[in-house]
Amino acid sequence: MLDYGPTHFSQGRMDFAWEELSDSERAQAYADWEAGRGLLGGDPRYRPNSHLLPPWGLEQPFFRALALDDARATNGARLRAMIAGNAPVEVEIGFGRGDFLLDRAARASGTLFLGYETKTKATRLALARVARFELQNLWLSDDDARFSLPRVLPAARVAAVHILFPDPWWKSEHRIKRLFSPPFVDLLARALRPGGLLHFKSDVEEYSALVRYLVEQQPAFAPHDPALAERIGPYAPTHREQWCARNGKGVWGLYFARRS
Ligand SMILES: C[S@@+](CC[C@H](N)C(=O)[O-])C[C@H]1O[C@@H](n2cnc3c(N)ncnc32)[C@H](O)[C@@H]1O
Repeated sequence: MLDYGPTHFSQGRMDFAWEELSDSERAQAYADWEAGRGLLGGDPRYRPNSHLLPPWGLEQPFFRALALDDARATNGARLRAMIAGNAPVEVEIGFGRGDFLLDRAARASGTLFLGYETKTKATRLALARVARFELQNLWLSDDDARFSLPRVLPAARVAAVHILFPDPWWKSEHRIKRLFSPPFVDLLARALRPGGLLHFKSDVEEYSALVRYLVEQQPAFAPHDPALAERIGPYAPTHREQWCARNGKGVWGLYFARRS
């Protein structure tokens, strides 16, 4: 049976060092991105049967970018029709247990929510909760959002992207797996509509500083504006945010509007 095991969050602090990117580091980040390096689970284009949905995903609000045309189910057609509709779209990347996303989808039935979480087990658990709460406006994927999002959503379609407590990937050899990089910020700029919101939180102060630097380097984004936090309104904290509150850990939130 699928169930949530105990979660062991890392308690100790490791060094999270970052510096402004040199031109060659920036160029390397784009080259890595183009080559699909650092994608979690590897590049799905080279995975066997990546054009097919897993059996448990058929006729569920579940998608994979490369399996939208799987003819054994209506998943792809239904999702495409919803994306082509007029409902605002919000995306969460790395929803984990889904506490924030499920609550937000329940509060805003007129908004279409897409959630990405590369851990398949967590995605399946969240799918079960989508069914239990009878949510009609929430679709989930275990794709790496960096690969999937631009293949699934047209430019300027998204009203808000939520990225809450992403893995810092402390070790330098794992840096390539880190969500935030110049090409990823370009992806967000493309996905968000004018005025759209990028909502970020972390309990790693230095990661927040890196994210602020990377986003503010992209001319499509206005500088961090704490007043935009109002746009989130009441919300259920993620599992990690709950843990931070219980353990007295600081949380750094960043809010960026996409310029018109
Ligand atoms: C530290 S956990 C935080 C989970 C949740 N947001 C919370 O605050 O409790 C980060 C999650 O992001 C997921 N993740 C990391 N990179 C991802 C990516 N490129 N696409 C989708 N999910 C990703 C990981 O699998 C992990 O579950």
